[in-house]
Amino acid sequence: MENIQKREELIRELLGDEENVFGNFLLFDSLMTKYRCAIREVTTKLEVLNDELSLPTKRNPIESIHSRIKRPASIAQKLRDKNKPVTIESISENLNDVAGIRVICPFIDDIYEVARMLTVQDDIKVIEVKDYIKNPKPNGYRSLHLIVEIPVFFSQYKQQMRVEVQIRTVAMDFWASLEHQIKYKNHSEHTAQIAEELKECAEVIASTDEKMQELHKKIQYEEF
Ligand code: GTP
Ligand code: MG
Repeated sequence: MENIQKREELIRELLGDEENVFGNFLLFDSLMTKYRCAIREVTTKLEVLNDELSLPTKRNPIESIHSRIKRPASIAQKLRDKNKPVTIESISENLNDVAGIRVICPFIDDIYEVARMLTVQDDIKVIEVKDYIKNPKPNGYRSLHLIVEIPVFFSQYKQQMRVEVQIRTVAMDFWASLEHQIKYKNHSEHTAQIAEELKECAEVIASTDEKMQELHKKIQYEEF
């Protein structure tokens, strides 16, 4: 009960329209449930691939999978930032990252292999690919980002739902997590210096990732 009240408060914040809160609350909740289902569908696909590949290779191309649904306050903030209406219809029209999955892989090659195996599946529609590994962001951020659409089957209908999938190595994830924390606490007088040093860390990490990949290939080759 308390939980329902808390969610209603969050949604009131999102909608800013007290009269319609209850009706919209149900709609909002039902949309979030659909995003949760879409996450389950894509996560299962990734787990199936990981299980299948672990048999012949005796190792997992996926180290871990994390997922999250964007919080109502962040949904509202992002819609406002994009100058889009803060309504329920606007959420699926304008946001691609309400449902997010992060896939952590041991090696760089695993990232592309996992992305390929997921996107060739015939019920997955690729909406967008951003390769921040081949083209890192100016701050040094690296990851492969996919926006995919997947049909979710309900009792009366099916609906195409969008999911953002970020695929990165353990090392890239280490950098992104710490950079996020440092950025969050950053003081303006340190910004330029800290940004430069963070970028240097990203380069060191990237070359370590490449070295690890080479070593792994060497060992695989020697095993034959
Ligand atoms: P958003 O409005 O942030 O969604 O921008 P976008 O639609 O251009 O998406 P982009 O693919 O650039 O980034 C989406 C997500 O990737 C973010 O929400 C973060 O989770 C992650 N990300 C992108 N850039 C950075 C970065 O510089 N540092 C960290 N730590 N994460 C990042
Ligand atoms: Mg995005």
